[in-house]
Amino acid sequence: MKNSPLNRRDFIKGTVAAIGGLIGALIGIPSIVYLLSPSLRAEEDSDSIALGPLENYPIGVPTRFDFTRTKVNGWERTSVNYGLFVVRKNENEVRVFSDICTHLGCRVSWHPDVQHYISPCHDGHFDIVGNNISGPPPRPLDEFVTKIENGNLFVLLPPFKRSA
Ligand code: FES
Repeated sequence: MKNSPLNRRDFIKGTVAAIGGLIGALIGIPSIVYLLSPSLRAEEDSDSIALGPLENYPIGVPTRFDFTRTKVNGWERTSVNYGLFVVRKNENEVRVFSDICTHLGCRVSWHPDVQHYISPCHDGHFDIVGNNISGPPPRPLDEFVTKIENGNLFVLLPPFKRSA
């Protein structure tokens, strides 16, 4: 009988602590999961980029295509802009080149008057299939692996380096 008030007090303390712990867990665990989930998330971007119907690209004329790809790696989010040129030789043959100059990385553009890609930074020139033909670029433009499915053109990332 003498211990009864103390036991009641202990019981109330224990009950309050249990309820507090439960509320803490209900709020804390989802918060921790939310904060940690980006670090557990796998990268979901595909390496295959759709460029649309092949027939959209005229034969013999390099046609520019741009896209942005976002990579998620934990909390880090990186966006990369890609520029490329689609060159159709005939109905079925197509090659796709990067617009990044192989000298110091400036973006080349197609100049139909001279039939060259020209890098504006140091006047590097490339022919229609990306071969370096004058100026400082040490090797051809990088090229993308292509695939055609149901008349649609796709490229695979990243582009591959071609030797000089
Ligand atoms: S960056 Fe293209 S020629 Fe220098």
